[in-house]
Amino acid sequence: MTDEKLLELALDARKNAYVPYSGYAVGAALLTEDGKVFAGCNIENAAYGNTLCAERTALVKAVSEGCRKFTRLAVVGNSTDYCWPCGVCRQMLYEFAPDLEVLVARKDHQFVKFPLRALLPHGFGPESLD
Ligand code: THU
Repeated sequence: MTDEKLLELALDARKNAYVPYSGYAVGAALLTEDGKVFAGCNIENAAYGNTLCAERTALVKAVSEGCRKFTRLAVVGNSTDYCWPCGVCRQMLYEFAPDLEVLVARKDHQFVKFPLRALLPHGFGPESLD
């Protein structure tokens, strides 16, 4: 799976975004170690704090289908700026994939790539509880 293809899937996932409040559609595509892709979009709520980000939608879809090992994530918003994953999403992803590569994109398909460990330094993970 190329970065460009994973980004295409993230761009495409924005079409199902439910964003009546922000109008900001986000798409994510999460690649598993064995080559499956789980896509997700953001889902907002009238009680704003219940909003689910695209990355977490993709993650919960994958984990609920029995997949827990991930190598790469692409995320893109509906803007000319990069769609940086929020702190909650960084933490949720870190639980399963501290070595994840995160491809952060703009709607014009430009992207930058960071290790999740750079986006969430000194992350709190399962081993922190040992
Ligand atoms: N959003 C995401 O889907 N992912 C992020 O990492 C950042 C924010 C969504 C949440 C909300 O629906 C909209 O973007 C505006 O904050």
